[in-house]
Amino acid sequence: MLELQNISKQYGRRIVLRGITLSIPKGEIVSILGRSGCGKTTLLNIILGLTEATDGRIIFDGEDITRVPMEKRGFNIVFQDYALFPNLNAYENIVYGLRNNPTRSTREEVDELINLLDLRAHLGERIHQLSGGQKQRVALARTLVMKPRLLLLDEPLSALDGIIKESIKERIRTIARTFKLTTLIVTHDPEEALTISDRVLILNDGVAAQFGTPQEIIRRPADDFVRRFILSQLEVKRANIGRLFSNETPSRT
Ligand SMILES: Nc1ncnc2c1ncn2[C@@H]1O[C@H](COP(=O)(O)OP(=O)(O)OP(=O)(O)O)[C@@H](O)[C@H]1O
Ligand SMILES: [Mg+2]
Repeated sequence: MLELQNISKQYGRRIVLRGITLSIPKGEIVSILGRSGCGKTTLLNIILGLTEATDGRIIFDGEDITRVPMEKRGFNIVFQDYALFPNLNAYENIVYGLRNNPTRSTREEVDELINLLDLRAHLGERIHQLSGGQKQRVALARTLVMKPRLLLLDEPLSALDGIIKESIKERIRTIARTFKLTTLIVTHDPEEALTISDRVLILNDGVAAQFGTPQEIIRRPADDFVRRFILSQLEVKRANIGRLFSNETPSRT
């Protein structure tokens, strides 16, 4: 269980996060959703331990980790640009972290991940030979061999297109279920957040506008901001598709 208690962050006089409180049961997938600049990455970095909160506490499995340094938290992040090593092949990237922690995953466990992420055919390839979706899967595998206690993903799907996006989404869900791994995903796309997560945190300029299941958010948006932000985007998509069937010209989003 991950608990955030009244997390706030200020840069100088600018308040970036204001009193974020929530708890996430083990194994759940939670999206942090909001517009550019609303504080998503800052919140992820505070949980990771890369950034210090100005106020508030972080509790993980009953332990107060607010002041525990990043490397001792046992969390791991996949950055938006994947940050893979270009001079190593896919396999060498995947097992890179095991150099200093050879007992963290067994050979069989590495094998299982390679199968789960469908990377068998690409192990000998250099990073520049891989597609975006393949790079994303290598980045995921590289993180997962380290057996993180919490998986953090910053915009993991935004560089991918339609079908690939769906397949990575499915894999992230399978991994969270298989390993009972609590997973936090930053995204600015409501459709993505609502379809991948057990729960969604909607940030409005550093404030939690709503924290709930996708159904709750769609059926009972907490305020006008949520209604406009979520529903307007989904409705525009639906209306455009509907118009295609009735031979009207789709409106621009
Ligand atoms: N190190 C910093 N010093 C000062 N201000 C910062 C710093 N890091 C972030 N900010 C400010 O905090 C706010 C939130 O930034 P953050 O990166 O968390 O947004 P975000 O929601 O991830 O946006 P995006 O979707 O564009 O990635 C922004 O206004 C940003 O300018
Ligand atoms: Mg960001």
